[in-house]
Amino acid sequence: MSEQARILDGRKVADRLIDTVSQAIESHTSGGGHRPGLAVVLVGTDAASEVYVSNKIRACERAGIASRSHRLPPETTQEELLALIDHLNESEDINGILVQLPLPGHLDETEVTHRIRPDKDVDGFHATNVGLLALREPGLRPCTPRGVLTLLKAHGIDPKGMHAVVVGASNIVGRPLSLELLLAGATTTVCHRFTRDLELHTSRAELLCVAVGKPGIVNADWISRGCVVVDIGISRSSDGRLRGDLEFEQAARRAAWITPVPGGVGPMTVATLMQNTAQASGLTVELE
Ligand code: GUN
Repeated sequence: MSEQARILDGRKVADRLIDTVSQAIESHTSGGGHRPGLAVVLVGTDAASEVYVSNKIRACERAGIASRSHRLPPETTQEELLALIDHLNESEDINGILVQLPLPGHLDETEVTHRIRPDKDVDGFHATNVGLLALREPGLRPCTPRGVLTLLKAHGIDPKGMHAVVVGASNIVGRPLSLELLLAGATTTVCHRFTRDLELHTSRAELLCVAVGKPGIVNADWISRGCVVVDIGISRSSDGRLRGDLEFEQAARRAAWITPVPGGVGPMTVATLMQNTAQASGLTVELE
């Protein structure tokens, strides 16, 4: 009989993080401080993005953050979107600006991302914030990678000295996660679409983070026994259920720790957005 992995409980840790943010904001506002404000911009009608944006707005209510949502039609032009960002950049009651990605194909995501003022860039996607993370002087840090580090720490797992393998090199998750892990002292390998022998790398991981969004991209047999497994991929199966990139039951028979999907990294991303919005308004909040 093999042992079963322990669960990295993202829901529980995210709830604690949101409570901590909420307490910091309440004590700040009760002392006469300004309530942090987050603008959430959604262009078009992508169903998954609608769900993510609703979750973020609901989390704002719990955290005591004033949210302002801007839902724009799919035919919105680049100029219209940039004009809204310029307006939000200048709005004093807005501390954080989030433009939900992906944008409809006719819009230029890079230009939009770089139009957001770096000190309001609560997604941490602006070149300034990614650069600061790379230079070991983090400013506003991308939510999913920061959330993964918080989740590990909350379970007593310190990546320092571990061999961490990140599968997926996207700008939103894989790349900044590799920078976070490097900053935390892990020896970090990044695998991507041109990696020749994925199994060779995953089987050597002590900490394996998979962020591709393709179920089965990493076979559960390619995980070494005792590994810490963080499944960041998310996709919907034909019956509508959410799935990660790994086959959970099989992976859990080999791993020491594993994130479930749903209930692992997803809630951490949303809670970290609340933490980043508090930070953008001048409040430093860390989970003890
Ligand atoms: N699309 C998928 N993940 C994210 C995220 O963390 N932030 C934004 N803005 N869009 C996303």
